[in-house]
Amino acid sequence: MKVSIIGATGYSGLELIRLIQQHSSVDIATLHSFSNQTNLLSNLYPHLKNLEASPLEKINPKDIIEKSETVFLATPSGISKDIALPYIDAGLNVIDLSGDFRLKNSQLYEKWYEKSAPLENYLMRAEYGLAEFRENKESTFIANPGCYATATLLGLAPLVKKQLIEPTSIIVDAKSGISGAGKVPSTSTHFTETNENMTLYKMNSHQHIPEIMQQLTKWDESIPAIQFSTSLIPITRGIFTTIYVRPKKPIAWEELHKLYESTYENAPFVRIQKENVYPTVKQVTASNYCDIGLAYNEITNVITIVSVIDNLVKGAAGQAIQNLNIMANFAENDGLGFIPVYP
Ligand SMILES: NC(=O)c1ccc[n+]([C@@H]2O[C@H](COP(=O)([O-])OP(=O)(O)OC[C@H]3O[C@@H](n4cnc5c(N)ncnc54)[C@H](OP(=O)(O)O)[C@@H]3O)[C@@H](O)[C@H]2O)c1
Repeated sequence: MKVSIIGATGYSGLELIRLIQQHSSVDIATLHSFSNQTNLLSNLYPHLKNLEASPLEKINPKDIIEKSETVFLATPSGISKDIALPYIDAGLNVIDLSGDFRLKNSQLYEKWYEKSAPLENYLMRAEYGLAEFRENKESTFIANPGCYATATLLGLAPLVKKQLIEPTSIIVDAKSGISGAGKVPSTSTHFTETNENMTLYKMNSHQHIPEIMQQLTKWDESIPAIQFSTSLIPITRGIFTTIYVRPKKPIAWEELHKLYESTYENAPFVRIQKENVYPTVKQVTASNYCDIGLAYNEITNVITIVSVIDNLVKGAAGQAIQNLNIMANFAENDGLGFIPVYP
C-alpha cells in the first residue's frame, strides 16, 4: 500500500516514516512539508541519511490522490479540517493525527481548540481511533486519539466499561515528555525551563479533557466530569499517567488484575503488570506498548492505575499505523512488532 505523509518534517511525521520502513505491506509514496519543499528530508534530518531518499514536496492533492491509497495528516490542529477534504472525497484512507476530527460536538471543538469547527458532514464520518476499542473496523477515515487521551482511556476502560467506579471519582495526573509539544520550541518548552524541572500547565483546560469525556460517557453515561491535570517533565518521550478512582464496592487486587487481563487478552500492545509492579516510561520507549500497573488501597477504597506510553508511538504514529493495520486487514502488529529501546 502506498502512503503519503503530510507533516513529514514534524516529530509525529518522522515517527511514521520510521515505523513504515519496518512495515511489510506499506511504502512511502510522497512526503510533504508546509514550509520546506525543495529539500531532501535527510538534509534536514541527518539520522535519515541513506535511509529515506524521498524529497519533500508541496501539498498537491491531485498528485497525492494519483500516487497514494492512504494519507496521514501529522499537522497542527486547525489544518486537517480543511486540507483532508479532497482525500476523503476521493475515497482515500485518511488518518488524522491532530485533534480536528476527534470531537463530535462542533461547539466543544470551537471552545477547546479556539478555532472554527470542521464541516459537520465530514466530522460525522470520522471514526475515533482508539485502536483497542474501535467501533467500526472498516472505517477508512480515522481521527487518531491524543496521547494523554490514549494513556488515560486505556487505563480507565476496564473499570468504566463495567461501570464499577463512582462516576464523580476520576482524578488523572498526567505527565508528558517535551516532544509532546512538537518540534518548534516555545518559552515553556525551552531547555532552560524544562531541564531539571517539572511544570504543571493548562490546569483544567487541556484540550484532551473533552475527548476523554466523549469516550468515557459512551462507556458509562453517568460520569459527569473528570479532574485532569497535565505536567511537563524533563524527558524527551513518554507519558506517565497516574489515575485515582473510587470503586462502587471494595475490590480485591486479584479481581482487579483479572478484569484488566481479560479486557486486554486480545490486545497485543497492552501489558498488565504483576502485583506491586508499576510501569516506567522507559519500558515503553519508542514502542507501541501501553503498560498498566494497578493498586488497591482498602483503607481509602481508592484504586490507583498507572498507565505509560510513548507519546510519539502509541500516542501518535504507532497507533496511526495500528489503525491502518486494522482498517486494511494487515496483522495488527505489522510495522510495530519490536522491543522497546532500553535502557
Ligand atoms: N507530539 C506528540 O507527542 C503528539 C502526540 C499525539 C498527537 N499529536 C498531534 O500530531 C500533530 C503533529 O504533531 P507534531 O508534534 O508532530 O508537530 P510538529 O513537530 O510541530 O510538526 C508539525 C508538522 O506540520 C506541518 N505544518 C505546519 N503547519 C502546516 C500547515 N499550515 N499546513 C500543512 N502542514 C503544516 C509542519 O511542516 P513544516 O514545518 O515542514 O512546514 C510539520 O511537518 C498535531 O496535531 C499534534 O497535536 C502530537
